Amino acid sequence: MKLAVLREGRDAEKRVAATPETVKKLIALGFTVSVEKGAGDAASMPDSLYTDAGASIGKDLKATLKDADVIFSVQGLEGKDAAHAKKGAAQLSVLNPFTEGERLQSYADAGLMAFAMEFVPRITRAQSMDVLSSQSNLAGYKAVLDATAEYGRALPMMMTAAGTIAPARVMVMGAGVAGLQAIATAKRLGAIVSATDVRAAAKEQVESLGGKFVMVEDEETAAAETSGGYAREMSDDYKAKQAALIAETLAKQDIAITTALIPGRPAPKLITEEMIKSMKPGSVIVDLAVEAGGNCALSEPGKVVEAYGVKIVGHKNVPSRLAADASALFARNLVHFITPMVKEGALAFDFEDQIIKESLITKDGAIVNERLKPQPAGEK
Ligand code: NAI
Repeated sequence: MKLAVLREGRDAEKRVAATPETVKKLIALGFTVSVEKGAGDAASMPDSLYTDAGASIGKDLKATLKDADVIFSVQGLEGKDAAHAKKGAAQLSVLNPFTEGERLQSYADAGLMAFAMEFVPRITRAQSMDVLSSQSNLAGYKAVLDATAEYGRALPMMMTAAGTIAPARVMVMGAGVAGLQAIATAKRLGAIVSATDVRAAAKEQVESLGGKFVMVEDEETAAAETSGGYAREMSDDYKAKQAALIAETLAKQDIAITTALIPGRPAPKLITEEMIKSMKPGSVIVDLAVEAGGNCALSEPGKVVEAYGVKIVGHKNVPSRLAADASALFARNLVHFITPMVKEGALAFDFEDQIIKESLITKDGAIVNERLKPQPAGEK
């Protein structure tokens, strides 16, 4: 069994899908591992660490992919390169399946067995394989650091001989994995933290981290959570009530971190231009949902912009800004995924297994995933 670890090609991607630590684990499972030259450079893992761990170095993409049965990559092969992979090879990566139909078709055409790690179901057995959690957690932490770097004041209350500095007020919108870590990080830095979500279940989690929960509660919120734990898109009536509450709360904040996502849909717009106008000069907004369309009306992907005296941070691919840790966790997620599929030194996929069924995107020349077939809105 040969396993290939690719050098990432997409811009701003510094992560790598295997680390020297996980290479050792993969070899112990029976793989020979080929790492594309320079794959770990941007995550501070030079080729020499991979060879020390027992991997060989592939001189380019083609050489690395040659005869590989399994391909590890953070963002997956580009469609044009899929034909270089062995027919039937399994690729494990994040794929944005709802927005990259063309690429999926190239995978199908090349006979790849492509798995989308973000489609791994959030069941107890699969927690250790959950790349959304491992990466969002780091993104939530980094969002607070990015906000503090742009903010021209301190976060904690400071009592000095020259007088007292008031603590910053931080509001987190969307209290999922990233949001909860943002709350914890902002609390640790001494801010006064509040948070909002449409899922009532988030209240207890926010409060247990010392945050104040602010939410519009009505008959709709009882059904705001899907069976998978995700948020649904809310009605226009709910959105209007939520906007009024956010407008009132936001005007008193110094920093807003937005993380709200709805799987398969554009991110909900939570901060309007009017709301930005109402914020104090020097306030900072970090929009973690910027790549999904943004929670903030004026955020721009990959940019820090200023409007009405408010800085709006729209960094893309925030986990990659902590490339070493993000890679270490991502790489372990992949090892946890592949381990049950190796039986006595050979690959054996159980296509009836829920984890495989839900994350498998292409197989035998076709796009096979249920979630990519047309469904009623909000159920993806
Ligand atoms: P996500 O990244 O899809 O969304 C982030 C947050 O935004 C969610 O909390 C969502 O409710 C919220 N949101 C969506 N629309 C909103 C709006 N209009 N206004 C305010 N907030 C809005 O969510 P994430 O972080 O992936 O977590 C989703 C759920 O999965 C959570 O319940 C989490 O606790 C659960 N989870 C379960 C795991 C497991 O059992 N293995 C692992 C990780 C998360």
